[in-house]
Amino acid sequence: MDSAAPVLTIDGPSGSGKGTISRIVAQRLGWHYLDSGALYRAVGVAAGWADLDLDDGGALVRCTFDTVVAFREDGDGELRVLINGNDATDELRTETAGAAASAIAAIPEVRAALKDRQRAFRQLPGLVADGRDMGTVIFPDAARKVFLTASAEERAARRYKQLKDKGVSVTLDGLLREILARDARDASRAVAPLRPAEDAIRIDTTGLPIEDVVARVLDVVSRSAG
Ligand code: DC
Repeated sequence: MDSAAPVLTIDGPSGSGKGTISRIVAQRLGWHYLDSGALYRAVGVAAGWADLDLDDGGALVRCTFDTVVAFREDGDGELRVLINGNDATDELRTETAGAAASAIAAIPEVRAALKDRQRAFRQLPGLVADGRDMGTVIFPDAARKVFLTASAEERAARRYKQLKDKGVSVTLDGLLREILARDARDASRAVAPLRPAEDAIRIDTTGLPIEDVVARVLDVVSRSAG
């Protein structure tokens, strides 16, 4: 970690556009990118591979320590995620991995075990950190914080389109129910619940084209530069 490196935190619920926006903004700024959700998802996938019970907190904490997660860019500039050396990029994006990640993310020891791994991404020339508690817990001293929101219906519709494009069979209603359940779980957990940092700029992305959101986020960065 390099505490001199500037950090832009981008937090928000699933489907708020965080991932897409964070990647584009990181690319435009030439900064590093941390997809913190991928770390929780990776533990979820590794727990699935090991056939662990999602109610067995002790086993999940051990699994967190034992799971090596690496991010690599492939030839097309796509970020691949390797779990214990195996490419698990596609498996990471499944609803099963998301649900496992959400359950695992409620365990305080898992969150604590992942803290330093996340802070290690803070390197010059800067870091865009995407997640739920980037501005509140992991990088509370970041000078630039954004909280993205969007209506649950729009988030479900975005996810529906993404999954349909991939040929995954889902229903819009089912996705909306899952999103609402995950929001409630992420916002009500005792440790690091999903909430905006007090000094975060909130941007509602409902109905906004990606480019407009990117422009607003870059504006936050330029206003707090220096
Ligand atoms: O952003 P995502 O959908 O990839 O995140 C997957 C799950 O991980 C989500 O349900 C909440 C959890 N998570 C978290 O608790 N803290 C983070 N910083 C990132 C993700």
